[in-house]
Amino acid sequence: MEQENHPTPLESNKEVIVINRRSFFGGLLAIGSAGMGAILAAPVLRYVLYPLYAKSSKAGWSEVGKLEDFPVGSSPVRKTITFTQLDGWREVVSAQSVYVNRLADDQFEVLSAICPHLGCSVSWQQSAADFLCPCHGSVFTPDGKVVKGPAPRGMDTLPTRIEDGKLQVHFEFFRENVPNKEQLS
Ligand code: FES
Repeated sequence: MEQENHPTPLESNKEVIVINRRSFFGGLLAIGSAGMGAILAAPVLRYVLYPLYAKSSKAGWSEVGKLEDFPVGSSPVRKTITFTQLDGWREVVSAQSVYVNRLADDQFEVLSAICPHLGCSVSWQQSAADFLCPCHGSVFTPDGKVVKGPAPRGMDTLPTRIEDGKLQVHFEFFRENVPNKEQLS
């Protein structure tokens, strides 16, 4: 009669140990693979998601014009400037209008033409010697102070510098419809 081959208790223990070792090393391998996958995927994910979290880069300095284009004490001179910003992967070239007041030989004031109320473009009115916003009727003095709302503050001044006999401006955007100037980008 054939005898059944039952494993001894010692042999069963060995099997359990072997199985446990296998599953332990299998688990280690799985964790290692997952970790390696995460490490490899991170740069790819960062690249793909970059435009979602990237902020627009600030504009650099833009040329406004030669110093002689702006006589001391004249009415504000309107100029269109261009600048490039990085928006995610895209390079965006923007054009904006500014008004230049030359206060002294080496002293300039550049005002953004964006109305601080809701962002319409403010126009200089030579006959009235003031700025008027066509959207809701805000009025500003030649140096940009608000004399009639609804604009909650005056026109926004921009940083300037002189390079090689030319006036440059650093264009900035500001929060609309708040009483104090708050830079956005
Ligand atoms: S946007 Fe200029 S007054 Fe409203």
